[in-house]
Amino acid sequence: MNIGSFELPNKLFVAPMAGVTDRPFRQLCKALGAGYAVSEMVTSRKDLWNSLKTSRRANHVGETGPIAVQIAGTDAPMMAEAAAYNIDRGAQIIDINMGCPAKKVCNKWAGSALMQDEALALQIIEAVVAACAPRKVPVTLKMRTGWCQTHKNAVALARAAECAGVQMVTVHGRTREQGYGGQAEYDTIAAVKAALRIPVVANGDITSPEKAREVLHATGADALMIGRAAQGRPWIFREINHFLATGEHLAPPLVAEVRHLLLEHLQDHYALYGEYTGVRSARKHNGWYVKALPGGAAFRARMNTLEDCRDQVQAVADFFDELGVQLDRMPAAVADTSDTQDEEHMELAA
Ligand SMILES: Cc1cc2nc3c(=O)[nH]c(=O)nc-3n(C[C@H](O)[C@H](O)[C@H](O)COP(=O)(O)O)c2cc1C
Repeated sequence: MNIGSFELPNKLFVAPMAGVTDRPFRQLCKALGAGYAVSEMVTSRKDLWNSLKTSRRANHVGETGPIAVQIAGTDAPMMAEAAAYNIDRGAQIIDINMGCPAKKVCNKWAGSALMQDEALALQIIEAVVAACAPRKVPVTLKMRTGWCQTHKNAVALARAAECAGVQMVTVHGRTREQGYGGQAEYDTIAAVKAALRIPVVANGDITSPEKAREVLHATGADALMIGRAAQGRPWIFREINHFLATGEHLAPPLVAEVRHLLLEHLQDHYALYGEYTGVRSARKHNGWYVKALPGGAAFRARMNTLEDCRDQVQAVADFFDELGVQLDRMPAAVADTSDTQDEEHMELAA
């Protein structure tokens, strides 16, 4: 699997998730078998580039390459500038966001709303490709199946994007109107795959090794992208890799390994965000790790009362020490994406 000149170790990708797939989490997923990760989206609004949030998102120190940055916006020249800005800060691949039900940017709807205006979508794609081509940086596109059930234009837009020089397309098998509701469908992704020569990535509701195999089979896609199922379960990538290679299930990780991974993840997280923000933003990750575990609900409640790194680390260590007395390995995963927390985009998703 290649993106431009970059050869990837496998065909399992971590989905960009704002507020989740920051550098520490992407690194963790890559260490646990993800072949590729895309950053959380960076706005094309120049006035926000110096904000703490955007500068953290544009920080790739120590990240295993290729470094892929997703940009979002509605104005073609601004998107071209955003691409150049991120390339100057280490991006090796630029991904255009036409996939998430994003909020308003400059009085226009960004993200998947662009699928409703193919002419503008294409202008943006052409401008970004023109900015990236002289720097030999591949451009990729992430989209949904369309605007709504009666306007599924993923094939037309993907074809136009390929002609404009886009080098990979990812399709989330829902329309924008669906938000995160209902089920992802894979027929449209299969139609996109059949219509293009560039690699196509299937995304949406891939929560288990069996589902991964099924989606690969149903779509013929070149790669799979996994989002919510990796929250609190970043080892899903190695589990799926193993299953696709052997047809056998890998044993769930040892409780002691998860304890170690989570404590390391916390240190990386604090290093990026500092103590005040780090402790608060780590709560959701900690909560996801323990969600289906005995005592998980009480642990989550306790997490919300802890305000410094030392207490948080101690609570996590104690929780997994106690769990280790009861269990050797983590329980087999139960897929659950019912409480999708996409605060940044959900206001629009309904
Ligand atoms: C919390 C959250 C944040 C997201 N942020 C982005 C984003 O910044 N850019 C994007 O293209 N998609 C974003 N998405 C959509 C995911 O990349 C993915 O397409 C979607 O979750 C479906 O995949 P899944 O069923 O494997 O989760 C986000 C999703 C979630 C749950």
